[in-house]
Amino acid sequence: MDYSVWSCTVMDATADVVAIPVFECDSVSEGLLANLNEATGGLLADVVGTDEMRGKAGDMAFVHVLKGLKTKRLLLVGVGNFDEFSTLAARRFGGSAARTARKKGAKTLALALRSELDPMVSAKATVEGIVMGLFEMDAYKTADKEDRVFTEISLIVPEKDREAAEKGLQAGRIVGESVNVTRMLSNEPGLQLTPSGLAARAQAVAEEFGLEFDALDEARMQEMGMGAILGVSRGSDEEARMIVLRYTAPNADEHTETVALIGKGLTFDTGGISLKPAEGMEKMKYDMSGGSAVIGAMRALAQLKPKVNVIGMIASAENMPSGKAIKPGDILHSMEGKTIEVLNTDAEGRLVLADALAYARQLGATCMVDLATLTGAISIALGTVYTGLFTSDQEWADQVLAAAKRADEKMWQMPLDPEYSKLLKSDIADLKNIGNKYGGSITAAAFLKEFVADTPWVHLDIAGTGWNLDNRPYHAKGPSGSGVRTLVELVMGM
Ligand code: BES
Ligand code: MN
Ligand code: ZN
Repeated sequence: MDYSVWSCTVMDATADVVAIPVFECDSVSEGLLANLNEATGGLLADVVGTDEMRGKAGDMAFVHVLKGLKTKRLLLVGVGNFDEFSTLAARRFGGSAARTARKKGAKTLALALRSELDPMVSAKATVEGIVMGLFEMDAYKTADKEDRVFTEISLIVPEKDREAAEKGLQAGRIVGESVNVTRMLSNEPGLQLTPSGLAARAQAVAEEFGLEFDALDEARMQEMGMGAILGVSRGSDEEARMIVLRYTAPNADEHTETVALIGKGLTFDTGGISLKPAEGMEKMKYDMSGGSAVIGAMRALAQLKPKVNVIGMIASAENMPSGKAIKPGDILHSMEGKTIEVLNTDAEGRLVLADALAYARQLGATCMVDLATLTGAISIALGTVYTGLFTSDQEWADQVLAAAKRADEKMWQMPLDPEYSKLLKSDIADLKNIGNKYGGSITAAAFLKEFVADTPWVHLDIAGTGWNLDNRPYHAKGPSGSGVRTLVELVMGM
């Protein structure tokens, strides 16, 4: 599929469908809509301002044009209040226009950009919306599959904005496609994607986009003393992998910062001997969504070329019950040196991350962000709307929160306090891997904090936001790619 920028008028746009954002304040007596109304012999006046199209976000109406325009169909897309128009609204405009036009069989689509946003920012967000909007989790369907594809999608902008829009388009495409790689990976079932399989996918990304790649197998983990991730992996016939992707900034010297992006990569989490209930267990294929977010972010960063070094690390294992599996009460020796009493084998994410955090520091990380579908409790606290953010360093957290705002990903800071850490005291080891039944997301974060030493660290619990529960006009139900856009914004802003 081709993407392009056109600086023609909407009247001259030749696409099968031409999408126009409509604001609440729009009327057919002014501006673009007046021109279109006149050219089409008054067709828009029958629609705009009626219940079919008041410009409210989510309103959508086709207008079939007989004369006056080069296109036969206008798609009017309500985008809300003009003064509040934002990158979020632009992304939704792009996503819903693309999804709706595809459903109606369009092969070519042109979208008019008309807002006071910076043209580069607006083009980027719109294209992110289009690319993300077109993703479907139907890779394994042989029937009822969405196989209609566009041949060309174009943005219509004034000539003076063309260059900026072209830059925005490229960036939006890189980010959108990378988010979709993350979503595609998160959607892969445990049978189809094992830790070594995930490593192979990461390697393919590294080779395509020029990143350094390494993946520690269990023998190398043993040498490094990574007893925590090895403990989680013991019950599985599939070997664990500690996957490392590295990006080195073009002008890097010894003062260049190295940010580590670390993802939980459980390709399936049965809970182990502390087995999960059957109902809903299938969703645990997405327990590598932190890891897939790191792969997606590294894929984008390799192309966008930030000024800092980046380590992408994915701690990947499969959590299975078996005759070899670790048992409640077992003690694991982490790479960092701390011993861990495993009281619940289902609290495995924090175990694999403990070794990843220690390894990232050993590889020279000067600051770290981890992403993990870590606790069910985070969706009790924040629902599926906000990602939970935890930190040991407020300045670093503020940078991540600012990046999340720019990326329109909702994140909410949760407390971390020594009082929670007390709950992790074990009678026989340095730490136990669970607290009491309260504040489960916080005790999980407090556990991770034991492995970051003085390195500024932020933990993002994406268990609630990693999966879209329903189809929306601008995105499909299923894995969301939560965190990718924030990571990209964060690193590009450093
Ligand atoms: N992968 C799960 C977290 C999870 C649970 C995500 C439900 C989405 C939905 C994690 O490994 C886990 O099992 N956490 C336990 C921790 C508990 C044993 C302290 C949980 O949340 O129940
Ligand atoms: Mn678990
Ligand atoms: Zn898990």
